[in-house]
Amino acid sequence: MAAAVEELYARAKAEVGQEDLDHIRHVTAYGRAIDARRRELLREGGPRAIRRATALEMMYRLMQFSELGHNIVHGSYDHLPGNGEYHSDRYDWDFNVDVDHWKTMHHAGHHPNTNIVGKDHDLGYSVFRGSAGQDWYGHHLGQVALISALAALAPVAAPFFLANIARKVEHHPFLSAYTLRSPARIARRDARRRFVDEPFRSGWKPLPTLVANYFGGVAGYMSVLFLVLIEHHAGELELFTDPGPDETADQYCERQIRATRNFLPSAQMDEALTRILEEEVPFDNRPDLRIFYGGLDTHVEHHLFPDLPPSMQRKIAPEVRALAARFGLPYHETPLLETVPLIAKTLTGLSVPFGEREFGRPAELLRDPSSLVRRVISGFTYRPLPESPYLDKPRFHNAPARVLSATPVAGGHAISVRLARPRGWEDVEWEAGAYISVRVEVDDDDHGTGTGTSTGRAELVRQYSLVRDSIDSRLDDSRLDGPGPLEICVKRVNGGRVSTRLNDTLKPGRHVTLVGVPQSSGDFAMPEPGAPSLLIAGGVGITPIISLLRRIARDAGASAGVDATLLYFNRDERSIIYEAELRRLARDSGATLHLFTDTPSGRDGLTTGRLDPKVLRSLVPDAADRETYVCAPAAVIDLARGWLRDLGQPAERFHAESFTAPELERPADDGSRYTVHFRRTGASVEIDGATTLLEAAGRAGISVPTGCERGLCKACVTGKLSGTTSTEARAAGGATGAEVRERITVCTAMPCSDIELDL
Ligand code: FES
Repeated sequence: MAAAVEELYARAKAEVGQEDLDHIRHVTAYGRAIDARRRELLREGGPRAIRRATALEMMYRLMQFSELGHNIVHGSYDHLPGNGEYHSDRYDWDFNVDVDHWKTMHHAGHHPNTNIVGKDHDLGYSVFRGSAGQDWYGHHLGQVALISALAALAPVAAPFFLANIARKVEHHPFLSAYTLRSPARIARRDARRRFVDEPFRSGWKPLPTLVANYFGGVAGYMSVLFLVLIEHHAGELELFTDPGPDETADQYCERQIRATRNFLPSAQMDEALTRILEEEVPFDNRPDLRIFYGGLDTHVEHHLFPDLPPSMQRKIAPEVRALAARFGLPYHETPLLETVPLIAKTLTGLSVPFGEREFGRPAELLRDPSSLVRRVISGFTYRPLPESPYLDKPRFHNAPARVLSATPVAGGHAISVRLARPRGWEDVEWEAGAYISVRVEVDDDDHGTGTGTSTGRAELVRQYSLVRDSIDSRLDDSRLDGPGPLEICVKRVNGGRVSTRLNDTLKPGRHVTLVGVPQSSGDFAMPEPGAPSLLIAGGVGITPIISLLRRIARDAGASAGVDATLLYFNRDERSIIYEAELRRLARDSGATLHLFTDTPSGRDGLTTGRLDPKVLRSLVPDAADRETYVCAPAAVIDLARGWLRDLGQPAERFHAESFTAPELERPADDGSRYTVHFRRTGASVEIDGATTLLEAAGRAGISVPTGCERGLCKACVTGKLSGTTSTEARAAGGATGAEVRERITVCTAMPCSDIELDL
């Protein structure tokens, strides 16, 4: 489907030309004529003139948004020679919005994330509730009143409203210079023009002009708000969970179509508007009335091809309808007048806390009062709730996982956590030694106590090894509902913001956010069982090691004859984790287990000592011949690698895991410049070879899901359509074009040729 969409786009875009530019100039001239006539009517005065001026004001404002600004700022004419003022960077939009805010909220927030709950803040997901699948927040009780209040102040409230949506995309505080300064300037300028200059220069009585400007402005902005509201909300339009970086181009197109509605204009309404326009604004070759809806009535086309001008959207609409039918997708189209009762019913009906689960069964809601209370409280903080109804759909990125148990271990220095698999993860498999990435929101000034006063929030991602592989996880099903939990162990690190937060706050019933499904770092994956192995763990580093040992024991079955040795080092005997289980596994599998503590212990079976060449030589004389797996602090790993190399171990036998993100090695700037093109958004930026593709996306205003920003969590994995990264070139000995990977972690990738990304 994406290929068919792409083909249609290429054909249509190639057709956009001088005719479209002439059309938009003609529309601009018509807009000026409407505005001039409006001001004339205000000067004429009299009830009829004032009524007509009000209607013209409404139409002028609507047209400024629809056929003109919205589409021009999308870049519909940017590629045409001689586009003059109609370039997206130059257009002087007569609409109460800061264009930078608009580009952020609309281009970076809304379009790529259409109807993804929590990411698309376009008129909903926090401000209004327009779909049953959205979270209900406390303030939704008053959403009808909120809309009425917004309506009363629509023209001056608009820039603040849009700034609030933009700041959510860019993570600015609610009250900040970003959300207040330029909106205040825009609102002041508009208020002065409409409510001071025009009334007192109209040459007639100021009050009627004030009234006409007020009601005309409110009607214009509310028409825009209404049309935007019906594009993606109410009725059969769908909401989506965050598909994360794995959404394919086909799925992207499908989501845009499923989430968007066109409307069919009303003949009665058009007739009334045409009559006023013909009587009041004589104009040669008057443009079609659809300029007042431009791109809003063809919104499905607009969402597939945001930078096609509305004149072209109208032209290709039949082809898009046929394409939707060909791929078995709905083509939502609703008569305009039918959308009015639909929206009214939706907004009133959804002001109460009934979601997809509770419809028809309101008593269900009362059965879980704690959830009800949380919804009310979360309303004030705009936080998504982990039990939100839309989470019924499988979610693989930023998936909430419920804590089944949280048990202090290692004398309280760590916590062993069992997590229920998120919904939809029933069939997810992972290898022994795999890890999971956990996303935690911490206070910006929280240095580990978890009690600091918050001046801002930061999201941090950490990797934790899974204690069991997916097969062992299923065997652990016996005591729990569900398809087998994920188990991790989190050591409290001195000054560690995430580890402290998790140790302090994780309790059964709470949720943690998993960035994506479990990953295996290639180096730590265990080859086929049976090879003699040496396992070395330090402290909490036992977590991936015990997972490997479990697999070794499982593979050995009843034979109890595996050739594996585990050296496990701890500070003291209280720090040893999983001791009983390690001993049992060793006994059952025939593996050899040596437990060490730094400080002397009176207990049998514990040796005082640290990892050194002597220990290696005496306890594992054939260490050089063993596949070796080490999980410990980075410095210990380096030492172990060196000692084993000295003992004659080939480098490929040594496998290590420390989750210490490698420093990004940026090459020196050799003056080369590369173009990174983002296929979906159509943006391009030029960067040097020391800039990551993630940074390039940021410069283009494209937000990419991220976690660790060091290549570990895979949150930022993106399709690469062409070009070569420096990592690929290195792997291919410096040649460009070799070993092309289709999906790359853009946080670590730097270009060494022009690159096209599926963003
Ligand atoms: S952000 Fe984690 S791999 Fe890129």
